[in-house]
Amino acid sequence: MMRASHATAGAPTPVQFEVRPSNFDDRQAIYDVLMRSEVFGRADAECVDAMFLETWQSPPREDSYRWLSCWHDGRMIGFACYGPESLTDRTWDLFWICVSSEARGRGAGQALIAAAESQARQAGGRLMVIYTSSTPKYAPARRLYERAGFARVAVVPDYYAEGDDLNIYWKRL
Ligand SMILES: CC(C)(COP(=O)(O)OP(=O)(O)OC[C@H]1O[C@@H](n2cnc3c(N)ncnc32)[C@H](O)[C@@H]1OP(=O)(O)O)[C@@H](O)C(=O)NCCC(=O)NCCS
Repeated sequence: MMRASHATAGAPTPVQFEVRPSNFDDRQAIYDVLMRSEVFGRADAECVDAMFLETWQSPPREDSYRWLSCWHDGRMIGFACYGPESLTDRTWDLFWICVSSEARGRGAGQALIAAAESQARQAGGRLMVIYTSSTPKYAPARRLYERAGFARVAVVPDYYAEGDDLNIYWKRL
């Protein structure tokens, strides 16, 4: 379990988050966080749910998905899914990160990304890579990655759709 707090000049009382490995009981809360995200829809939530089930239903492998849940005041408010990229030398991916829309802007995203990096580093990770979209609704995610020290190292034009580029973020762990 990791504890994180975040304070700003306007917010003297640090907000306390608890970031811990998810357990199977977090399945519905993860689904709900995605459905309330105002960014992702049912298809995304179903895709994450299938990844979540696969993690618990398959024998653990070196490249199994890892999950982190972020708690505040007894409520799960966000999660991250990350893990090693198959067939690479210790490159890890952050596959998903999402915080409930009503809980944003208080450091939960930062706490989740810091915990994913720290866990990957402890497991011997060398690099972390994140794929994201260039569209305005992903601007908070791009800022989060840049603030966490990730560099945008590649852009693949029109990857997701016409006018919706793939941005690849990269950080040495
Ligand atoms: C991207 C996302 C995970 C960020 O989560 P978050 O919890 O809002 O992230 P943080 O609170 O750590 O940072 C957000 C902002 O709040 C600010 N902040 C953090 N703690 C703060 C505090 N205690 N007081 C005031 N501001 C604070 C940060 O500086 C940051 O500001 P900026 O966006 O202007 O740079 C969230 O916006 C989200 O779930 N988006 C939808 C899903 C998504 O896009 N996922 C990524 C797909 S690739």
